[in-house]
Amino acid sequence: MFFIFGVFKRVYAAFISPPHPPNVEDNDASPPLKIGILGAAAIAPHALILPAKSHPEVELYAVAARDISRAENFAKKHGFKKWYGGKDGYQDLLDDPAVDMVYNPLPNGLHYEWTMKALAAGKHVLLEKPSGNTAEETRRMFSLADQKGLVLLEAFHYRFHPAIQRVRAIIDNGELGAIKEVNATLTLPKGMAGNDDGIRMKYDLGGGAMMDCGCYPLSCVRYLASSNPTAVMSATAVRYPRDPRIDTGTTANLTFASSKPGEEPVRSTIRCDFAVPPRWGFIPHWPEISVHAVCERGSIDVFNFVMPVIYHSITVRPDGDVPRTERVYTFEGGKGEEWWSTYRYQLEAFVDKIKGRTPQTWVSPEDSIANMEWIEKIYEESGLGSRPQSTYVLPTA
Ligand SMILES: *[C@@H]1O[C@H](CO)[C@@H](O)[C@H](O)[C@H]1NC(C)=O
Ligand SMILES: *[C@@H]1O[C@H](CO)[C@@H](O)[C@H](O)[C@H]1NC(C)=O
Repeated sequence: MFFIFGVFKRVYAAFISPPHPPNVEDNDASPPLKIGILGAAAIAPHALILPAKSHPEVELYAVAARDISRAENFAKKHGFKKWYGGKDGYQDLLDDPAVDMVYNPLPNGLHYEWTMKALAAGKHVLLEKPSGNTAEETRRMFSLADQKGLVLLEAFHYRFHPAIQRVRAIIDNGELGAIKEVNATLTLPKGMAGNDDGIRMKYDLGGGAMMDCGCYPLSCVRYLASSNPTAVMSATAVRYPRDPRIDTGTTANLTFASSKPGEEPVRSTIRCDFAVPPRWGFIPHWPEISVHAVCERGSIDVFNFVMPVIYHSITVRPDGDVPRTERVYTFEGGKGEEWWSTYRYQLEAFVDKIKGRTPQTWVSPEDSIANMEWIEKIYEESGLGSRPQSTYVLPTA
């Protein structure tokens, strides 16, 4: 009973009606950052709009969509002051001098072009994952951000929540000894990630399960192993019948160097699937979002590392001792509330970084580049190949 109540309370505050503090005044020494969103994407309310409503230092300012009436409806529904539409809508938003930061949730294949344009226009960018179609795109985006002195962050929101950080702390603090094996899985029922005509099935737009949901388990095992893989041992993809360059699911076996010199490599299996069919044709597949790690003296099972605010569990099983289960929603002595979603923690860090404060945690450019490199290596091993690199060239000023 109390368990259900806790879930309800957190979900309500995180995703339905977050507490709404007054914005800091415009004449304040640190005026609120004005957000502009490229595209009226379905993910925007969870990933940015609701978190922004409970952040006193940001203001929902403008949205751009190809279709002006869609932009207008979106703006009115979510409380944005301005909207831009038509052929030049995205660029018009970037040219608006009032916009401080841009959220880019466009299809993967457009991440590069519009992030480059946003940076060129002098805006900080919160960029949806995976950061681009190729690691080369990611390198170029971070290089431009660096040149311009702007903040660019790949939105790996789960990293900012205390739950996954606790898992890494258990691995790092040596309680269970060195890590030997780490698996991570993200599978979703068919239909949840869009339909057959959706952007996730379009090769040019950076479609495919390894891009869409596979980027999470990959990022997660790299984080928990505190390093990059040493090799992709094998990778197999389930190909989409209508376009065999698209995977609807991928499984990859990776290795990482052991933290102990001379020891066997750390084994890792990552699995993703965004089209798991219903069981017996009608019972929907329940999303599987898990991490299993084996260390020298025990193991850890994590349930729901992607949306921990709803509910999660970290079960630690020390060898020869009683297992225990932990749930962590806040940082001890740090900023945050029980109902803060991964996205809310992420926005806090993003704003801290822009304001010159030290964020609680950060996803570095090197980290984003490496994640993209290993996505490409997995596609190479599974035989599907990288997604096409953007042909966009930023005009030199
Ligand atoms: C990964 O390794 C496991 C265990 O060794 C094996 O059963 C599985 O077939 C491998 N998966 C792939 C995609 O090669
Ligand atoms: C990790 O996945 C591999 C391949 O499926 C499996 O053989 C192994 O038992 C898994 N390990 C854990 C800790 O879940």
